[in-house]
Amino acid sequence: MDVFLKIFFIAIVSLSCDGQREPSLPLSTDSFRQILRTKVPVPVGRSISFSDIIIRHYSTNTTKPRAYRIRDVKRLLAEPTFDPQRPTVLYAHGFVELYTDESVRTVTRAYLKKGGYNILLLDWSNLAFGHYVVSAMDVEAVGNETGRAVSRLVKGGLSLGGLHLVGHSLGAHVLGATARYLAARELVVPRLTGLDPAYPGFYPALLGRPLSAEDAAFVDVVHTDAGGFGAPASTGRADFWPNEGKAKQPGCLSATVPLTYEDFCSHWRSWRYWAESLTGGELLARRCDDYDSFVRGQCREAPLVQMGVKANHELSGNFYLRTAAKSPFSLGERGAE
Ligand SMILES: *[C@@H]1O[C@H](CO)[C@@H](O)[C@H](O)[C@H]1NC(C)=O
Ligand SMILES: *[C@@H]1O[C@H](CO)[C@@H](O)[C@H](O)[C@H]1NC(C)=O
Repeated sequence: MDVFLKIFFIAIVSLSCDGQREPSLPLSTDSFRQILRTKVPVPVGRSISFSDIIIRHYSTNTTKPRAYRIRDVKRLLAEPTFDPQRPTVLYAHGFVELYTDESVRTVTRAYLKKGGYNILLLDWSNLAFGHYVVSAMDVEAVGNETGRAVSRLVKGGLSLGGLHLVGHSLGAHVLGATARYLAARELVVPRLTGLDPAYPGFYPALLGRPLSAEDAAFVDVVHTDAGGFGAPASTGRADFWPNEGKAKQPGCLSATVPLTYEDFCSHWRSWRYWAESLTGGELLARRCDDYDSFVRGQCREAPLVQMGVKANHELSGNFYLRTAAKSPFSLGERGAE
């Protein structure tokens, strides 16, 4: 409770000091969920052990994925609904997240709707709870453990050519390490996507190594809270900057209490945009030097390109677009004008 009270106090005091009129921030007990999870070293029923990382396979719906201990992942190949020749997406959640959270449900539901994929989740919640510094310093070891699992699957027949690693926040750096681990064993991952890769401790690389353009054959990044929870600068081969890539993204509140659910709004737009790209959203962008030039129309001659799952693997550079404030976020060509 002391956390609640302290934060409320700070919020109320800072609001009244600013002389702002509306002290009625839309907070609920859920707002503090992420903060409370940093006070818990490990989720209920899990252990802080690398062997307790779980790979979940989503084949029919988002409520009942099948779970495999990471070191037993080869059993997945015997599952009739797993087709090793199909493209496979491996999604990694961020800090203090659970597989039952909206982020994972939104992304897996979108892949199920799109169809044609083996959908795997890297559930590393057992190492993503507790103190941020500890989780960030574990990123490389989690990434290596995941690399070993992927390499077992590939040896068992999984098509490496169809593999796409998609990570949000700290999960983006985990999968960067996975891709490097595999590349060191001559298994080059075709595509790695970072959804607003975590900023604190990675730029500069104090706690861990950030994902980079060299980690996979194609590395694309979607920035939505640059310099906040997300990477402050380009970190892939193709970097996308919807609405300048920063907070506050359209539809997010400008005044929030730090680290509450509402405060993650911009950071979490990254997976919302990604999910929308899977279910038909046309998030069209143009390459430009910076957002100001883009807004002033100086890049109108640049070709339209897709942000999201349909992004062309040959792209490189910085790409800009605008989105709507709520779902559906994509504005098609209008977003690139
Ligand atoms: C979800 O999947 C589980 C296990 O495959 C199944 O038992 C359940 O009926 C499914 N639910 C829906 C709504 O399809
Ligand atoms: C991860 O794997 C890389 C390359 O295989 C190795 O150099 C590094 O020491 C490993 N790191 C950890 C934390 O296991």
